[in-house]
Amino acid sequence: MADDSTSLGSESRAEYTGKRFRIGIIGCGGISKVHIDAYKDIPEVEIVAACDIIPERMEHVRKECGLAPEQCFTDYEVMIREVKMDGVDICTPNGVHCAPAVAAANAGCHVFVEKPMAISVEQAEQMVAAAKANNVKLAVGFQNRYRELTDFLTRARDVGELGEIMYVRVQALRRRGIPPWGDFTNKAISGGGPLIDIGVHMIEVAHEFMGAPKPVAVSANTWSYIGTKPCETECVWGKWDHTKNNVEDLAIAQVRFENGAIMQIEAAFAAHVKEEVRNFTFMGTKGGGQWSPAVIYTDQAGTMVDIVPNYLPDKQNWHILFGEKLRNWVHGAMYDKPLRASGEAGLAVQKILNGVYESAAAGREVKIE
Ligand SMILES: NC(=O)c1ccc[n+]([C@@H]2O[C@H](COP(=O)([O-])OP(=O)(O)OC[C@H]3O[C@@H](n4cnc5c(N)ncnc54)[C@H](O)[C@@H]3O)[C@@H](O)[C@H]2O)c1
Repeated sequence: MADDSTSLGSESRAEYTGKRFRIGIIGCGGISKVHIDAYKDIPEVEIVAACDIIPERMEHVRKECGLAPEQCFTDYEVMIREVKMDGVDICTPNGVHCAPAVAAANAGCHVFVEKPMAISVEQAEQMVAAAKANNVKLAVGFQNRYRELTDFLTRARDVGELGEIMYVRVQALRRRGIPPWGDFTNKAISGGGPLIDIGVHMIEVAHEFMGAPKPVAVSANTWSYIGTKPCETECVWGKWDHTKNNVEDLAIAQVRFENGAIMQIEAAFAAHVKEEVRNFTFMGTKGGGQWSPAVIYTDQAGTMVDIVPNYLPDKQNWHILFGEKLRNWVHGAMYDKPLRASGEAGLAVQKILNGVYESAAAGREVKIE
């Protein structure tokens, strides 16, 4: 983990005006701890309220942020009504993103919501509409946008070195990584399995890298063949409750975009693969390559060459990455700057995710409106 002197971005120091940005956190489980840690490096931020339906879960926020009992709530509507806040940070399970986001936006609060933005396109649309109607910034927690690998490839794309991106292959595969905790295997709350939980990260960064083309059709299937049975192997995270698992083990999809580009998706909590992989590869008219480790395959002065960066800053660390994504939202809201991962970007990704599930259920290609 970086120490304060390196993790506090120079942008942050230069801009710090002494103004405060008051935040309430909704959902105080696992990921909220990473958020609270990251906020320590954003001097404008003051955590002024917390909410969780399970009171004990707020203990770490209360201690870390010095909250009084009256600043801790079990009902987010009461928190939004009673506390004066600039922003609300939503770290609840996927199915509980939309309602608090809309309520917070309607109360005039800027909104940060963890990924995936929602569990349906309708929900994502409601969130974008509420943010727009209330003129607040809505950001989605896609931290891969801030990775050095993404910056390297995006810079090459922007100067035309890669030409037109025709194809990307997105992979988010675990060999045996079915989460035995939380709501990740309860479709009613999670909205789905590996596609919406881990696939979403690689889909969104690849989609943005492609230039965010408009998805028009999806052909997909999903399968459950391990998680719905008792766990029979040793695995890192221990045994899952197969009786409560109703999400896919594997999702495979092909997405067609308005500009003719194609995205292929492979996402799994459990698949017979060599090892875990989170990556995308791409083919452009002038250059191809891969996200991690970053490489570009191209032609130079009559020779086919492979280009690898000599140096990139190390931004793999969650503390640094979450700091960047939360700082982008806080500064976007405070200084009216554009967001790198906005609600609109989340909505485009949501259309792909739900298109995949829709196509799998229908057993045919579906159109995306
Ligand atoms: N960006 C990332 O890499 C990343 C990593 C992990 C999780 N996440 C996302 O963060 C979100 C939370 O994940 P988590 O791992 O912290 O889950 P978690 O189960 O550990 O925490 C969720 C918390 O929300 C609370 N909650 C549920 N309903 C609520 C409600 N109506 N009001 C207030 N609180 C409520 C639960 O009691 C729980 O404490 C999910 O959307 C997940 O996909 C993102």
